[in-house]
Amino acid sequence: QGACGSCWAFSTTGNVEGQWFLKHNKLVSLSEQELVDCDTLDSGCGGGLPSNAYKSIEKLGGLEPEKDYPYKGAGEKCNIIKSDLKVFINDSVVLPKDEAKLAAWLAKNGPISIGINANMMQFYWGGISHPWKFFCNPKSLDHGVLIVGYGTENGTPYWIIKNSWGPDWGEQGYYRIYRGDGSCGVNQMATSSIVD
Ligand SMILES: *[C@@H]1O[C@H](CO)[C@@H](O)[C@H](O)[C@H]1NC(C)=O
Repeated sequence: QGACGSCWAFSTTGNVEGQWFLKHNKLVSLSEQELVDCDTLDSGCGGGLPSNAYKSIEKLGGLEPEKDYPYKGAGEKCNIIKSDLKVFINDSVVLPKDEAKLAAWLAKNGPISIGINANMMQFYWGGISHPWKFFCNPKSLDHGVLIVGYGTENGTPYWIIKNSWGPDWGEQGYYRIYRGDGSCGVNQMATSSIVD
């Protein structure tokens, strides 16, 4: 995402890419820049929320592929070309906070947009992060990311999260965090688009 507070746009496009793939069997990398520039419910590089971004995608008439509206990492004038809008959503849902239910939803329906407290992510190099609540208030969500999977390692349950800080960060760009006690608010703001 570079020096732009566009995490919310990466979280949103990641979710829509999954929903579109599962419906149409085509994996299309989608434009974060369209959301940064054109989503008036959010604040571009100043931040935003996936729940607003879904509504904007419906209002804008869809998303362009990444290749047609590439990422610049800075806000620009909205530059949608209607004929390049190739991916559409029909609705969005707020998902339950129960992590067993979230895992079941993910297994059936694909990657989930979430908000997380990113305090401890600055210091993350790998492994299963499990910070004390004191260092990672679950009510202070300040970063949008995408849950893409889950598992258990040596008896420790974890989520696999796709971050937007590039492949040199964490585990090739991914983060693992403890699953089951609401660590860093991982379960507090789970949402998805719906593609009919
Ligand atoms: C979903 O949205 C697309 C694009 O707007 C539309 O063509 C399609 O008919 C919608 N599907 C349903 C079931 O409403």
